[in-house]
Amino acid sequence: MSHWRLDYQGDHAVLTLDVQGQSANVLSQEVLNEFDKHLEELETKMLAGVILCSGKASGFIAGADVREFEKIDDPAQATELAQLGQQVFSRLESLPYPSVAVIHGFCLGGGLELALACTYRIARDDPGTRLGLPEVRLGIHPGFAGTVRLPPLVGDLTALDMMLTGRALSAREARRRGLVDELVPERHLMNAAVAFLKQNPPPRKAPWYQRVPAWKPLRSWVVKLMAGRVRRKAHPDHYPAPWRILDLWRDQAREDREAESLGELLVGRTSRNLVHVFLLGEALKRHGKAQAHDIEHVHVIGAGVMGADIAIWAANKGFRVSLQDREPEILARAVKKAHGFFKSKLKDPRAVQEAMDRFMPDLEGHGLKRADLVIEAIVEKIGPKQELFRAVEQKVRPQALLATNTSSIPLEVIGEALKDPSRLVGLHFFNPVAKMQLVEIVRGAQTSEAALGRARAFTGAIERLPLDVKSSPGFLVNRILMPYLLEAVKMAEEGVSLVTIDNAATEFGMPMGPITLADTVGLDICLSVAEELAGPLRIDVPERLRELVGQGHLGRKSGQGFYQYDARGKRQTPPPEKIAADVPVTERLVLRLLNEAVACLREGVVVEPDAVDAGMVYGTGFAPFLGGPMRYVESLGVTGISHSLHRLSQEYGPRFNPDAGWSNPDLLKPGSA
Ligand code: NAI
Repeated sequence: MSHWRLDYQGDHAVLTLDVQGQSANVLSQEVLNEFDKHLEELETKMLAGVILCSGKASGFIAGADVREFEKIDDPAQATELAQLGQQVFSRLESLPYPSVAVIHGFCLGGGLELALACTYRIARDDPGTRLGLPEVRLGIHPGFAGTVRLPPLVGDLTALDMMLTGRALSAREARRRGLVDELVPERHLMNAAVAFLKQNPPPRKAPWYQRVPAWKPLRSWVVKLMAGRVRRKAHPDHYPAPWRILDLWRDQAREDREAESLGELLVGRTSRNLVHVFLLGEALKRHGKAQAHDIEHVHVIGAGVMGADIAIWAANKGFRVSLQDREPEILARAVKKAHGFFKSKLKDPRAVQEAMDRFMPDLEGHGLKRADLVIEAIVEKIGPKQELFRAVEQKVRPQALLATNTSSIPLEVIGEALKDPSRLVGLHFFNPVAKMQLVEIVRGAQTSEAALGRARAFTGAIERLPLDVKSSPGFLVNRILMPYLLEAVKMAEEGVSLVTIDNAATEFGMPMGPITLADTVGLDICLSVAEELAGPLRIDVPERLRELVGQGHLGRKSGQGFYQYDARGKRQTPPPEKIAADVPVTERLVLRLLNEAVACLREGVVVEPDAVDAGMVYGTGFAPFLGGPMRYVESLGVTGISHSLHRLSQEYGPRFNPDAGWSNPDLLKPGSA
């Protein structure tokens, strides 16, 4: 008995969960079994009630123990785990007296399902309280009777929305939707819980009209409506879990079917890979939290697409930020953008004002003198960057960390301008900053360990995921992506229709087709990165790309790229093009990407296959259900891929020659570092 503490206090009991050796409470089998023992004892007592709470500062319960999922490879075993949770929670629900969950911080997944089995739920009234069922993001659905208990409590549409999106509700929204009975300031939580037990009001139920969608004649209509929404986000072959949630709801299924369905999903390919992706993200988060950050003031130079977004994001996360640009109009635009962003994110006018106070446009660059971190995001040209850093070094404090957001210029080259290049690090953000979680932490030959550590800690502090990469052309993500993009352009040149190319990629599982991606990023940017990489990686830049840029067709931002766009940036339907038959579109796109990923591993751009997966999923949205490129390689097998590359190289040329890394199995093994 080591995870739970049972105290009797007068006429009631308090059962506190404080899982040993973990910073957050998770429901492992061991924790569930111990809970069951306590419930067995509690059943025999005459009490006014029991209070369930958490001994962790981080929150109530963060969910089931995801690490346990990876060890399960038999559906029956997964079903048994769900049944264990269901039995224990049903025992809690059947206690001869009421129970109340006292919730603060995260109350997610199995944690919320436990709270749902209590008679009442009260939550701490603060922004840190989050309640949700995020299972769908791991390719599964609730398995501890959450699909059964949630709809009667909050109504069917709210329940379906929570389960299908996995989004967490704030304390206020949870109260509004009836998920919690009361919100209480921290100091009154326990008293409020005791009061609930004493008064023993009838447990909350959703009003009848919120249960109307579950009426039998309406159900299939509701499912149809929901399916339309789900289809836009989740291809049934790639992401089966939301479809199962709809099935379970349509059939008003009970616990046994929930457990059985969970068992099948948990050992399926999608869930396995989504769990892999989740754990990679957690590992990067830990990497970002490994040391405390020492940065208060960030000075960003260049208020264009990237600089403005980086500055806004950092200010939103609580940093004092000065943003410098040589063009006052560009700074004014950034201020307007910041205001809009803070308003939509923070909502509360006081918080918006505070964020605006932290965000200072700085035409003259006064902030440099006070900055702990300087991030350069000016034009992607060596000369101006070197000149800027030469001037910056004169003005900043000796302990200031210097960073560049360059996409392709080697750090060593920029560092030539500095007296002390050991404090220069690459902080390579992805566009759009607010959406893409990854930041490549670029290590130049002279970058010091201390500088890298500080850069990672800052990245962690702004809630982005730091991935260590070696300074080399294109670093990891752009380098792997570029051959894939250029292959798409090449096929367009050959006459394959744009839509055929884009559809092949989205059907494979990419969030956006490569042609649309190129138009969105900007064809001028694509061209400049492609030209930067062309020499070192020996790749050809397709003529079509040069032509379009030469004609001023830069993509969405100029109204025309490969596609045409209307004034609001909406894509016009392209005219039908001749379709080249029998082109293996998906294979050509994907194999160039995989081949480059292996080249990166061979060259030590990153140290292990997991880093490739993390980079591509969190930096580009590479099909999460496949777990990342290297996980996909593992599922296909190296021999098959090498054969296909040989075949394609005979047909389409030496760019498909298999990289030497394919013949080094140690390089491709998971956990090879
Ligand atoms: P941008 O052209 O939108 O912005 C550059 C800004 O820098 C302009 O506002 C310009 O007025 C300002 N500027 C130029 N020289 C300056 C100087 N000496 N002092 C002060 N301000 C100056 O460029 P963007 O796209 O934001 O790119 C900036 C950097 O970020 C580049 O190194 C680029 O490779 C990198 N990057 C770009 C990504 C993208 O998707 N656009 C993604 C990741 C990195």
